[in-house]
Amino acid sequence: MDIRKMRSVRGEITIPGDKSISHRAVMLGSLADGITHISGFLKGADCLSTIDCFRAMGIKIDIDGSDVTVYGKGLHGLNKPQKTLYTGNSGTTTRLLCGILAGQPFDTDITGDASICKRPMGRVTKPLSLMGADIENEYCPLHIHGTRLHGMEYNMTVASAQVKTALILAGLYAEGDTIIHEIEKSRDHTELMLAAMGANLETNGLTIKVGKTDFLKAQDILVPGDISSAAFFIVLGAIMPDSEIIIRNVGINPTRTGIIDVMRAMGANMELINEHTAAGEPVADIVIRSSELHGTEIAGAIIPRLIDELPVIAAAAVFAEGKTVIRDAQELKVKETNRIRAVVDEFRKCGIDIEETADGMIITGGKPIHGADFAAYGDHRMAMSLAILSQLADGESTLDDSSCVDVSYPGFFEDFYGLEK
Ligand code: S3P
Repeated sequence: MDIRKMRSVRGEITIPGDKSISHRAVMLGSLADGITHISGFLKGADCLSTIDCFRAMGIKIDIDGSDVTVYGKGLHGLNKPQKTLYTGNSGTTTRLLCGILAGQPFDTDITGDASICKRPMGRVTKPLSLMGADIENEYCPLHIHGTRLHGMEYNMTVASAQVKTALILAGLYAEGDTIIHEIEKSRDHTELMLAAMGANLETNGLTIKVGKTDFLKAQDILVPGDISSAAFFIVLGAIMPDSEIIIRNVGINPTRTGIIDVMRAMGANMELINEHTAAGEPVADIVIRSSELHGTEIAGAIIPRLIDELPVIAAAAVFAEGKTVIRDAQELKVKETNRIRAVVDEFRKCGIDIEETADGMIITGGKPIHGADFAAYGDHRMAMSLAILSQLADGESTLDDSSCVDVSYPGFFEDFYGLEK
């Protein structure tokens, strides 16, 4: 597709629901006793994969626009699926399912698309095996022999909310306590939702303790807009001349707001208004205006708080004066594609001064760039980041695949061009 360039952007936008919270709402709603009403559900391909998997295990789930109703059957109510569970492109579905299925009284097979089959699953299957889990293979297809689990004390080796959540979910079924120590604080939507449902769970700083749980109480869940999707418009509004965008109803859970901290550090003209809490998650509207950005350093504890936003933050760095250094972000290599390699290769096509490092990249910004024929590697966040990057390029740009945005943001291009002034 040709990426159309806009001169400036202006207006209001309400972005789709949070992907991480939507997945968890369906999973925990299925394991709860009673009916869970979810509003603001993200009908992206990844979350629909989660719904398909739970339907295949006998859970009735109705979808009506962005309202979803899950008829939960309790922690012991899942049926053995009649076929291999297919998780599509979704790492969250695949890894969290491992945690739930390890302790079931039946066996399951899981597989996904070509990208999922290349993503490491050993990071969940190995710690789960310390709880007694029996899972064959470290890459999809996985064969899970359901078995009795026991608690454990575990020091995580990667800063990953997916790994943490898989262990927490297994902990609900395990005899004795499961104690997990994180390296850095990662998104805590599972802990918040489980606590609201009455699970036997405590958190203390980087430590989470889960006990065997018999009953989860169904809750109404209001999914806020996904800050990872808002990120594209935060960067767009900041880099475009004579622009202002109001992004409504964005989830600002502190484990997710690294992008706000970094954009502020880069000099973004940004305001948070209407801050409030909705169903246990903090929410705000974000106002972003044209900004004079400068380079910054992004490393350490902030990385898990903005891991999915790094490709679009890299685009912001291209239009910022001076150097931006991203370190401690080796996790980018095991996302939907290797996002360090993909960003460096695609950005270089437009003459950008960018260097790949072992755990990140260095970008020297503030120089003119030219358009290019881009590849998204089937990665939704690459596609959207490249659409933003192209806006200030001299000349035309194309994208090989725009449909992959459906994974997290169906309708992205309509919303994007809808902001043209
Ligand atoms: C997610 C956790 C993150 C993130 C992914 C969603 C989640 O992955 O990149 O998009 O919902 O738990 P990791 O746990 O691999 O860091």
